[in-house]
Amino acid sequence: MEVKNITVLGAGTMGHGIAQAAVQAGFDAVLYDISAEFVEKGAARIKKSLAKRVEKGKLAQDQMEAILGRLKTSTNLAEAVKNADFVVEAVPENLDLKKKIFAELDKLCKPETILATNTSVLSVTAVAGATSRKDQVVGTHFFNPAAVMKLVEIICPVGAADKTVEIAMDTMKRLGKTPIKVKDTPGFIVNRLLGPLYMTAAQMVLDGTATAEDIDTAMKLGAGHPMGPCELADFGGFDVIQMAQDSVFEYTHSEADKLNILYRKMIEAGRLGFKNGKGFYDYLPDGTKKPFKVF
Ligand code: CAA
Repeated sequence: MEVKNITVLGAGTMGHGIAQAAVQAGFDAVLYDISAEFVEKGAARIKKSLAKRVEKGKLAQDQMEAILGRLKTSTNLAEAVKNADFVVEAVPENLDLKKKIFAELDKLCKPETILATNTSVLSVTAVAGATSRKDQVVGTHFFNPAAVMKLVEIICPVGAADKTVEIAMDTMKRLGKTPIKVKDTPGFIVNRLLGPLYMTAAQMVLDGTATAEDIDTAMKLGAGHPMGPCELADFGGFDVIQMAQDSVFEYTHSEADKLNILYRKMIEAGRLGFKNGKGFYDYLPDGTKKPFKVF
């Protein structure tokens, strides 16, 4: 089967970026969310991102219109997935919610449709377990911003058919991404490696070894990272990092993977990172940021 129609469930940070990557690559895509407000917001973010590329001279106006012409939005799940060859779910990280959606998809989608979850934290095997097509489910873990970042981790749950993994790999390549295969284990590859970096950076802030800003500068200029660990932790969101680290720690029992207390304290203080404008930095309405003094 060659995938032509992709449906993305969830129009938030990851979902809208995945839909953008799909239509930019020439697929027809439907962006679904539970309310008109959410889908419109997601579609507006795609339009804004493409308009910026037109402004910069990187995309012609008619190309932008063609790309947007391939994007449909929907708040009706049955309608949204009825023609889908490949569904990518990018709803909030809640296993019960994902299982409920996958059970519905199983009934609503064509028998050959591949179902993918963009979870960065949860067991893909558990999500697949909610369907009667356990061999046709994979994880497609995109990275933020999804329209830009080249990597997609293809998570292979227990029982996935080779054919399913092959179609997922091929579809991600056609989407302009570089897919790599990884077994369904907590953190997969990237978050498993990033976790200890986030934890060590937080401990250094707590110890007063250096400021968050200087730690970020050090890793950008000394190690060539595009963003420092504190900025990147803000970008990912502390609540998401907490869920990810707890599940990795439960698996590895390695001290290096244990959630640093600073993230717990930040969450208790209502600081979730970039998403609510409060993390290691305060994100100001004018688009600038200033370091937050933790203690
Ligand atoms: N949406 C769409 N496009 C975006 C974007 C966004 N949110 N942010 C940046 N871009 C585009 C820009 O428009 C620009 O496009 P052109 O080259 O066509 O002009 C390009 O990306 C580069 O952007 P900038 O020049 O503005 O800035 P930059 O060079 O500093 O790049 C960045 C920005 C791509 C975000 C870069 O800082 C970076 O790579 N950061 C690291 C991101 C990262 O590590 N992500 C993974 C996080 S972990 C994760 O996602 C796992 C998980 O489970 C959630």
